[in-house]
Amino acid sequence: MSAGMLYGGDEIGALVFDGGHYSLRVGYAQEDTPKAEIPAVVGIGEDANGMAVLEGEAMEVDEKKPDPSSINQSNKKYYIDTTSLCVPRQGVEVASYMKECMIDDWDVFEKVLDYSYKKIIQSESEFHPVLMSEAPWNVRLKREKLTELMFEKYSVPAFFLVKNAVLAAFANGRSTGLVVDSGATHTTAVPVLDGYVLGQAIVKSPLGGDYISMQCTKYLEENDVDLSPSYMVSGKEAVKEREKPRWTKRRNLPEVTRSWHNYMVRKVVQDYQATALQVLETPFDDKIVANIPTVHYEFPTGYNQDFGAERFRIPEALFDPSMVRGNTMLGVSHIVTTSVGMCDVDVRPSLYGSVVITGGNSLHQGFPERLNRDLSMKIPNSMRLKMISANGSPERRFGAWIGGSILASIGSFQQMWLSSQEYDEGGKQQIDRKCP
Ligand SMILES: Nc1ncnc2c1ncn2[C@@H]1O[C@H](COP(=O)(O)OP(=O)(O)OP(=O)(O)O)[C@@H](O)[C@H]1O
Ligand SMILES: [Mg+2]
Repeated sequence: MSAGMLYGGDEIGALVFDGGHYSLRVGYAQEDTPKAEIPAVVGIGEDANGMAVLEGEAMEVDEKKPDPSSINQSNKKYYIDTTSLCVPRQGVEVASYMKECMIDDWDVFEKVLDYSYKKIIQSESEFHPVLMSEAPWNVRLKREKLTELMFEKYSVPAFFLVKNAVLAAFANGRSTGLVVDSGATHTTAVPVLDGYVLGQAIVKSPLGGDYISMQCTKYLEENDVDLSPSYMVSGKEAVKEREKPRWTKRRNLPEVTRSWHNYMVRKVVQDYQATALQVLETPFDDKIVANIPTVHYEFPTGYNQDFGAERFRIPEALFDPSMVRGNTMLGVSHIVTTSVGMCDVDVRPSLYGSVVITGGNSLHQGFPERLNRDLSMKIPNSMRLKMISANGSPERRFGAWIGGSILASIGSFQQMWLSSQEYDEGGKQQIDRKCP
């Protein structure tokens, strides 16, 4: 039976969820970009009155509170989404529900789903089929657990799971290609053939945005740059370039935890990273870099500086990991050639002919150009090489979500859904049959 026929009708749209270590992207199929991007970390604190509050009551309690995104359960309080998460509060720890790009803490993940339905989608879950992305290496147990959760707790009418690399390829108009996804925790090369991932040829490297953040933090700290986040700053004076910042600390700050403070510092560094860093089109060279204009950047404390060589040197590690002492990881072009090398000779031309670039860390200016240059030096001249990368930054960052949005709205896809009826009859194992 087709879920499309059962639940068709314009007012009832499918939902698309695309989760990563950085954020969960949530929205309606057919739309161009996700309705919301919710951080993939949650603040968890003890409830002040220490009372066990049931889920149903929690939502009511929640309604009356000024902070709409804190959800009460047992004696824990959850602070979800940027606005709520970024308020300094005593004892609130920051925790991630993801591990190895898979859902790991199911209780916390459920809280984020509850929040998504209530505050973002603002509609009942039983009305909307759900398409979710998953890591290409997601495991059977987790896929079945998620399927069970969606049908049993959220009573979705239909559900579907697709590998995020496949969706990113779709978003770029391809069903075959080599998907290079550079996110927060990893950069991966995933070969996709006719909409299916060649699992045995996936190559992963831990060189992603988090690694670059770490290198930035190291560099900035070594240069005595004060990384105090704005929550600590109540006032600041204008200072000259490279001058010691003059700022006053906010008074009566609650005693925040280390994990929460570190999260806020990471956000400062991530902003610096996105604004200042750039990948060179050719391998790093002091002489080239000296001739490129610097970028001025001001930190929350008012400290400001023109950044030159380090803008290029730090992200160079993505392409030439040996730039960082002791680093033996694979650079991006190496990941790609290794992955393609593990695929059948016959399919290599179609993979190199569609190298799809996606993920937030690929937004560093110059990333696609550099990958193109490095790859063309490595592969045979006879091989046609084509990079495919969306120009707009939302399109590049939200590749997998956009692919899901397109797929879930195609007419011929409607018969693919795993319907609640099929789930009721065949159980959670049906997901392995419908979404291999
Ligand atoms: N404009 C930008 N320039 C450079 N880096 C950026 C930019 N925007 C976001 N990033 C970085 O991209 C990363 C997040 O990318 P993305 O949203 O693809 O990750 P994710 O899919 O949630 O994580 P993962 O793939 O590790 O599970 C972060 O490290 C962030 O700092
Ligand atoms: Mg990702």
